[in-house]
Amino acid sequence: MAATRPRVDWLVPTLKPVLFAACLLPLLLLVWRLVDGTIGPNPVEVITHDTGDWALRLLLATLAVTPLRRLTGWRWLVRLRRMLGLFAFCYAMLHFTTYLWLDQFFDWQAILADIAKRPYITVGFAALLLMLPLAVTSTKGWQRRLGARWKQLHRLVYAIGVLAVLHYLWLVKADLLEPAIYAGVLAALLAARMPCGDWWRRCCRRRLVGAGRQDVSAVR
Ligand code: HEM
Repeated sequence: MAATRPRVDWLVPTLKPVLFAACLLPLLLLVWRLVDGTIGPNPVEVITHDTGDWALRLLLATLAVTPLRRLTGWRWLVRLRRMLGLFAFCYAMLHFTTYLWLDQFFDWQAILADIAKRPYITVGFAALLLMLPLAVTSTKGWQRRLGARWKQLHRLVYAIGVLAVLHYLWLVKADLLEPAIYAGVLAALLAARMPCGDWWRRCCRRRLVGAGRQDVSAVR
């Protein structure tokens, strides 16, 4: 008899609007604090930090999808990845726009000098540039057009993760705890993708087989 897969057709259409609202919430709260006047004496700093934090968190969430799918066998998780990645890109763009507009007042000379001279800005800028082609080619159409090259191109997300964490580590002057936590999470996610992560793959397969799951093909 053919193996029956649990039907989760309703799950993704239900989760998508919930995830969309959850990803939008930090931005709405930021706007609310601005309108309400509770953002504090330095709104530009708060906006820069908040948008930077959420860009990084959502980027790491995007990177966590594949290891989580392998661990749980929940293939539908992949269908939420694009939204997470695009939100990471949107927050990074807001972060950059805040810097361009509210911090540097579009003083292009000062901005170029900053990119060239301050390593954390150089690295942040590189991360943002690399995010651009991934955002553009994130559609099904581009996936079809690029074929196998799409997967290769989207491996850039790991380099972006490294650059973004480096950007944070570099800019922090005193308390390294928060960027160190992000670096630890990124290291764990990268390790799960390395050839040495094969033990992890085997472990996930064993777990699924042990749990009587027919569908272990998710553990690729
Ligand atoms: C052109 C690109 C970028 C520029 C110019 C830029 C600029 C900045 C600046 C000026 C700060 C505040 C520094 C300070 O407080 O002294 C900052 C913080 C930060 N940025 Fe960026 N950034 C860029 C790209 C990115 C990207 C792509 C990410 C993540 C994906 C990111 C994540 C962060 C984080 C997490 C912080 C720290 C927030 C905190 O302290 O809570 N940045 N960035």
